[in-house]
Amino acid sequence: MGAYDFFYTAFGHVILTICLIFRYATSKGYWTDPYVQYFVRSLGERKAPEINRGYYACVGGMNHLDAFLRKTVCNCQIVKLGAGLDTTFWRLKVLPRKYIEVDFPMIKHTCSYIVVYLFRTKPPLLKPLIETYSTDSLLLNGHSLDSDRHCIIGADLRDIPGLDDKLKKFHLNPKLPTLFLSECVLVYMTPDQSSKQVNWASDTFHTAMFVNYEQVNMMDRFGQVMIENLQRRQCNLAGVGVCQSLESQKERFLKTVWENVDALDMVTVYSVIPQDDVANGTSSPPTLSICWATKDKFKQVHMGLSQVAF
Ligand SMILES: C[S@@+](CC[C@H](N)C(=O)[O-])C[C@H]1O[C@@H](n2cnc3c(N)ncnc32)[C@H](O)[C@@H]1O
Repeated sequence: MGAYDFFYTAFGHVILTICLIFRYATSKGYWTDPYVQYFVRSLGERKAPEINRGYYACVGGMNHLDAFLRKTVCNCQIVKLGAGLDTTFWRLKVLPRKYIEVDFPMIKHTCSYIVVYLFRTKPPLLKPLIETYSTDSLLLNGHSLDSDRHCIIGADLRDIPGLDDKLKKFHLNPKLPTLFLSECVLVYMTPDQSSKQVNWASDTFHTAMFVNYEQVNMMDRFGQVMIENLQRRQCNLAGVGVCQSLESQKERFLKTVWENVDALDMVTVYSVIPQDDVANGTSSPPTLSICWATKDKFKQVHMGLSQVAF
């Protein structure tokens, strides 16, 4: 498969669609992302305000990331699961010790090419990276990109031993506080597979936080339409059973050794995050939620990760 053929796969199509939404929403001032224009040039068609607001709430809701960096004084790792084509690393104002993106090998194969291509050809992208990449610490092979701070890894999240093995090879340290971020990813796995994923994260890492942004209220009419639309594009939501309610979202974490678990729907998140004039207005779709869980002990001292919330 060629580097760009993945855009014609079901996941490639979804990833490109999300990129286009980000590109459009940032062009309308919902939030600032000076980097997404390098990932996707076209503005695409006009997007419905509810869609822009949904992603605006997601970006605002994911501010756990900044809070986690502050709480750990950047002495931490961030693992973005099912990252797709993602600009988060570039948007960070301060960097963790390690920032790792994981997605299917084929997806990350393409993303690595795109990132390295952009890295070489787009000076504005190069500038913020220059301190983190040095040419000799940048290593690229078929499925991965490795540097001191930023790694892009190809792995199937359902294959826990394989994932664990790869993360070890990229020097992820189980003793360092670690934040796992997943945005609309676990829903593509069966409930059993995603439970194993969150279980592995809490078993392996001494101090950790898991933030999961994904569908909720999927039994409603709105949710059913979303399922049908995705099925038409060969995207099967195998984990939709966990996306029935905030309770079912929390339950996935409560079944394992995560200590503090909470969840909010995006309508609530949207009402509490700061809003500028453009984003102000009606609400975001009721079909999305954010669920977070912490496990908190660093060198026998509690870090207060449970305070990293809304
Ligand atoms: C809907 S896209 C979301 C992409 C990105 N998180 C975002 O919000 O823009 C789902 C992503 O999860 C990835 N994914 C789904 N199942 C996966 C698995 N078993 N292993 C690795 N990646 C997976 C897909 O390749 C895709 O990039």
